[in-house]
Amino acid sequence: MGSRYYQFAPLSVAFALCSCLARGWPNDLTHGFKELPFNTSFYHIQKPYDLPVEQRYSFINGVHKLWVFSTDKPLSRNSPTKPRSEIIISGYIYYSGVWQFEAYGYVPHGTSGVSIMQVFGATLPHNTSFILGVDTNGSLTHFGAPVIYPKAYDKWFRLNVIHEVETRKLKVYINGIFKYETLDRGGTSHYFKCGVYAGSNASYYMESRWKGIRVFKKYE
Ligand SMILES: *[C@@H]1O[C@H](CO)[C@@H](O)[C@H](O)[C@H]1NC(C)=O
Ligand SMILES: *[C@@H]1O[C@H](CO)[C@@H](O)[C@H](O)[C@H]1NC(C)=O
Ligand SMILES: *[C@@H]1O[C@H](CO)[C@@H](O)[C@H](O)[C@H]1NC(C)=O
Ligand SMILES: *[C@@H]1O[C@H](CO)[C@@H](O)[C@H](O)[C@H]1NC(C)=O
Repeated sequence: MGSRYYQFAPLSVAFALCSCLARGWPNDLTHGFKELPFNTSFYHIQKPYDLPVEQRYSFINGVHKLWVFSTDKPLSRNSPTKPRSEIIISGYIYYSGVWQFEAYGYVPHGTSGVSIMQVFGATLPHNTSFILGVDTNGSLTHFGAPVIYPKAYDKWFRLNVIHEVETRKLKVYINGIFKYETLDRGGTSHYFKCGVYAGSNASYYMESRWKGIRVFKKYE
């Protein structure tokens, strides 16, 4: 009668270990990183210069929704850039160390030819070290190709981007799984952005949603 109990004991230990791993430990991407405060003091919205922010951005129930039309104006009157509605994390401009962006992203069907997340800062003529794009098939890509994560439409995915400035390594994880590694494009200062920024073959309507945005810096 007692033996039945003991028979199950190792099983419950195994379950405890499993649930621990399921929660992401010891494989937790943010292990060894310090989470930095993130609130409206650390970001602002870039949107078409002629529109109030409410016409291209909302924040409801913890979800940032950003949208733009390919016919919209750029972020400032004389800018040659394409239309955008982006959260720019201007409170954390970094020059060294290992930095990490984490968030849950969502792209509705039909949005394509657009950047939804960037690691800004590069050596001219480039301005950006990493662009997570959405192609016409609804795949997440690096600058349009290669594909990092197919069939991304209409579902939440967790995105972690880790940037090691000294080695220039950029690593991309989707739903906790390593998907892609590349080098940054140089530059002395960097920051993270997310939202929608039209590419050369953008759909007429572009939208992405973000929640649980967190910024981390690795302990030195
Ligand atoms: C944002 O967080 C910082 C650091 O924790 C804090 O000093 C500041 O008051 C906060 N700002 C807002 C608008 O909540
Ligand atoms: C980089 O930024 C500069 C200044 O805003 C701009 O003139 C240039 O077109 C940009 N280059 C790219 C590749 O976007
Ligand atoms: C979309 O998928 C089709 C069929 O797999 C492929 O031929 C095409 O190259 C893809 N387009 C892009 C932009 O990746
Ligand atoms: C441009 O986008 C359209 C649909 O939005 C698609 O049919 C076409 O294949 C795309 N072209 C390229 C070069 O990706």
